[in-house]
Amino acid sequence: MQFSLFNPTRIIFGENTIEQIGGAIAEGGYERVLLVAGGGSIKQNGVYDTVISSLADANIERVECWGVRPNPVLGKVGEAIEIARVNNVQAVLAVGGGSVIDTAKAVAAGVFLDDIWQAFEWKVPITQALPIFTVLTLSATGSEMNGNAVLTNEQENKKWGIGNRLLYPKVSIVDPSVQKTLPWDQTVNGALDAIAHILEFYFHGTNEETTIAIDEALIKTIIDSVDKLQVDGLDVDSRANLAWAATLALNGIGGAGMRGGEWACHDIEHSISCLYPEIAHGAGLGIVFPAWMLFTHEANPKQFARFARNIWDCDDIEKAIFKMRTKIESWKGFVRLRDLGIAKDRLSAIAANATMIRSLGRLRVLERSDVESILNIAY
Ligand code: NZQ
Ligand code: ZN
Repeated sequence: MQFSLFNPTRIIFGENTIEQIGGAIAEGGYERVLLVAGGGSIKQNGVYDTVISSLADANIERVECWGVRPNPVLGKVGEAIEIARVNNVQAVLAVGGGSVIDTAKAVAAGVFLDDIWQAFEWKVPITQALPIFTVLTLSATGSEMNGNAVLTNEQENKKWGIGNRLLYPKVSIVDPSVQKTLPWDQTVNGALDAIAHILEFYFHGTNEETTIAIDEALIKTIIDSVDKLQVDGLDVDSRANLAWAATLALNGIGGAGMRGGEWACHDIEHSISCLYPEIAHGAGLGIVFPAWMLFTHEANPKQFARFARNIWDCDDIEKAIFKMRTKIESWKGFVRLRDLGIAKDRLSAIAANATMIRSLGRLRVLERSDVESILNIAY
């Protein structure tokens, strides 16, 4: 087993921790921030008020950029970069879910570049970024404790990612209690995304017992927490366990030693939510992942059998996949692409988008026709 693990983000976790954000920014010596936010949920649930009073208490000036939409777009990043430059901000503060955090990360790097998209195309390196702070309101992506950002270039229909050491947040505040205002489907989508992050690594497993054991514990905790939240959405302990598991799913711990993982399902889903931006990332993954597993399991039968046994108490991977889909349905999630309103004759366009620049996957390399087969299984 070999790996190099890097994670400089300080997490402040727990109820009523959001009031610490001003102090955390001031500790870094920053006096003026760009606050990035989404469509307004933080105004409705009180998070915004707590953040601005904490900033005021710490004498931190702020300018604001609102309107980041789910599956965030390059155009909004350009707008926010302009605000950051004109106001000469010293740091970026994201208050929201993964879309807001990813936008903030692109802004943090983009203020130093002529065209941030060139970094997503791997044509320009990121060598500088403003310091990033986050107040997380939706546990899903792990963006609060990783160096990744995913953005849609809406002109070119590309939903691509960047990863860079400079894009790890300096401090992220995770107060799980503010997630009680999430619509149920967003709680489920977040959980499905977190499970998918773990599985992208897990299926590369062979003998990395420590990481595999952590991964299995995280998956079981996520499933158990969602089950409990379905009964009582105000159960703060389950919100907390779900939140921490989602952070650990993509902060490096859950993938240590797994040779970088797989990521074909993510690439496929990113094309779905690129072409259908109204579809949530987690919802797409809940459909694509079981289909990919059916298509791929023979490439690592031992590990898929272990998944069936340890997570679903099954002696057969196909039965386990059936149980997984049944669980998603019990959460009122979708398990078929047709249920998301995608027309069958669009599957080839999704496959073409996903394989625009290269084949996908590592356990089993996927050409465009393979991706189309997986999408058909998922339909
Ligand atoms: O915009 P507002 O009004 O804030 O509402 C949001 C949004 O409508 C709402 N919401 C968030 N917190 C809430 C809340 N509503 C009520 N109460 C709260 N406490 O939830 C909606 C969805 O938010 P969004 O940020 O889009 O969700 P998520 O965190 O799932 O982020 C998804 C994006 O992240 C990317 C995805 O592809 C997608 O674009 N990813 C980022 C990754 C990363 N940076 O590491 C990895 C992932 O694999 C993923 O690709
Ligand atoms: Zn994801």
